[in-house]
Amino acid sequence: MPSNTEISALRGRRRERDTLDRLLRDVRAGHSRVLVLRGEAGAGKSALLDYLSEHASAGRVTRAAGVEPESEIAYSALQQLCAPLLGHLDGLPEPQRLALATAFGLRPGDPPEGLLIGLAVLGLLAEAAAEQPLVCIVDDVQWMDRMSEVILTFVARRLEEESIALVFASRSPGDEQILGSLPELRVDGLPTAEARALLDSVLPGPVDDRVRDRIVAETRGNPLALLELPRGLTPAELAFGFGGQAATPLASRMEEGFRRRITALPADTRRLLLAAAVEPLGDVTLLWRALKRLGVGPDAAAPAEAAGLVALGARVQFRHPLVRSAAWRSAEAAELREVHRALAEATDLDHDPDRRAWHRAHAAVGPDEEVAAELERSAGRALARGAGPPPRPSSNAPPS
Ligand SMILES: Nc1ncnc2c1ncn2[C@@H]1O[C@H](COP(=O)(O)OP(=O)(O)O)[C@@H](O)[C@H]1O
Ligand SMILES: [Mg+2]
Repeated sequence: MPSNTEISALRGRRRERDTLDRLLRDVRAGHSRVLVLRGEAGAGKSALLDYLSEHASAGRVTRAAGVEPESEIAYSALQQLCAPLLGHLDGLPEPQRLALATAFGLRPGDPPEGLLIGLAVLGLLAEAAAEQPLVCIVDDVQWMDRMSEVILTFVARRLEEESIALVFASRSPGDEQILGSLPELRVDGLPTAEARALLDSVLPGPVDDRVRDRIVAETRGNPLALLELPRGLTPAELAFGFGGQAATPLASRMEEGFRRRITALPADTRRLLLAAAVEPLGDVTLLWRALKRLGVGPDAAAPAEAAGLVALGARVQFRHPLVRSAAWRSAEAAELREVHRALAEATDLDHDPDRRAWHRAHAAVGPDEEVAAELERSAGRALARGAGPPPRPSSNAPPS
C-alpha cells in the first residue's frame, strides 16, 4: 500500500511542517529535540511523521510504532527502535551493554535495572548520533508496551546536545498522561478550505455545497474521516450526511465504517484480516504459515486489498490502525482463539518464545497445564529482562 502521503499529498499543515523543519534544523546544528504529536485517530499524525522522515536528509532515521496487540510484550517498541543501531553496542560501557542485551533477550542474565537500561539507550542513541544526526520516530505510543514508555520518557528528559530528535505520536483524547510534560504539537482537523478540497478528491460526483459543508463540519476536518466515511455512499445517500450519528465519536464511526466493509468480505478474507490484526510483527511469511493451518489460501488476500483495507507487501500494512481494531473487535471469541492457536503453531519456539507463549495464552480457553508451564518460562524470561507480569491466559479480550 502506498504510504500515507502518497495516497494524497499532505494538504495544508504549514504550521506543523514549519515546526518539524525547525526541529530538523536544530538537530542538524547539534542540538537535541523532543516532540509529541497529539491528535485524534485519523487527524494526520502518521502523515506528519512520514513528512519528518522524508525530510530528515543528512541524518539517520529509525522508526518504531506501538501496535495494539503487542502492548503486553515488554520492550517490543524499544527493541524495534534500537534494532538498526545495535552495531553501536560495543561503544557502551560493559554494564550498560550487558543490560541492554539482556533486556532485548540477546543474552540470558539477571534482571537489569531500569536506570541502567535507560542510560544504555541514551548512550546507544548518542553513539549513533556521533556519526550523523539521528531522528528517532515512535508512532502510536498509546499502544507502546509500558517498559518502552518508561525508558523512552527517561531518555527524552535527558537529551541535551547530542544531535538527536525524538519524535512521538500519541492518540488523544484519553492518553495525555503518556509522555506527559514533554513538548507537544497538537494535530487538529484541517481548516475548512483544505478539508473541502480533500473531500472533493474522493466524492463520487458533484455534491451540493451545503452537503459538502455539512460533511466537513461533521468530520471537523479529520482527514481520515473525509477520505473514508463517504466511501461507498451514493450522492443520494450522501445528501443525508453520515446517517445522523453526529453524537457518536468520530473514531468509533470510522471504525464502524471499516467493520461494515470487513463484514461484506468473504469468510476466508475476514479470517486473513483477523490473523493479520493479531499478528503484531506484520510478518507476511509467518501470516501465510498460520493461514495455511487455518485452510485459508492465497486467493483470500485479493478482496481485502481491493477494498483498500490492507496491503500484503514486504510487510502487512493496514490502511489505518482502526482497520486492525475493527477486524479484531468484530471477531467471535472462538474464532479469535483459533487464529491465535494457528499463529502460535506458526511461530518458531526457538526464535520467538515469548510471542509464541503469548499467542498460546490467548488460544487457551481455560487453564491448560502446558500453556501455564510455557507462560511461566516466558514470565521468567520477561522478569529477567525487568518486565512486568505475563499476560493472563484466561483473557481473550484485546487490550484496550
Ligand atoms: N494534511 C493532509 N492532507 C491530505 N491527507 C492527509 C493529511 N493528513 C492525513 N491525511 C490522510 O489521512 C489519513 C489518516 O492520516 P494518518 O496520518 O494515518 O492519521 P493518524 O496517524 O493521526 O491516525 C491518511 O490516509 C493520510 O494520508
Ligand atoms: Mg497514525
